[in-house]
Amino acid sequence: MDTSLKRSPGVYLTGFMGSGKSTVARALADRLGWSFVDLDAEIESAENATIAEIFELRGEPEFRRIETETIRRVMRTVERGMPTVIALGGGSFVQPANAALLATHGISIWLDCPFEIITQRIIESESRPLARDPEGFRKLYEERQAAYSRAHYRVDGACEVDQAVQSILDLPFWK
Ligand code: S3P
Repeated sequence: MDTSLKRSPGVYLTGFMGSGKSTVARALADRLGWSFVDLDAEIESAENATIAEIFELRGEPEFRRIETETIRRVMRTVERGMPTVIALGGGSFVQPANAALLATHGISIWLDCPFEIITQRIIESESRPLARDPEGFRKLYEERQAAYSRAHYRVDGACEVDQAVQSILDLPFWK
């Protein structure tokens, strides 16, 4: 097994909103018998508010601050020896401070999905504040590709969940 994963047994799924991070991460955790953490759900439960409420009432910069704090907290639990698959939020990996943390703790995987499939999956998503403006949403998708490509690995997210899980299990870092 990759030495970084031995030290920090966390597999972090990144990728744009609607790329299937939460569904694939949960299925992967089930296959491995590992814990599963959804970062957005973790934030909502700690803050006792939905992501949309945090954006609306406290603003995006405050959401990003909470997001980084939550990544650090989850990482500490992972490093106490709790193997975990973590579904990040779509913007987590884009923040340089988070990307730097994730580069050196565990393994990050980009679930790469074409924009057309993403829009079909999350048309008019009320729970995703950044998906409400179609033009801005596409721009954000394009702008973020370079950041996601810095993850340790990339797998195709346009397929069925089982196939995406298998692609992750076939990556070389498990050996
Ligand atoms: C965001 C993605 C969302 C959530 C928030 C911001 C983003 O997570 O964290 O709405 O900046 O891309 P999902 O990718 O799970 O939808």
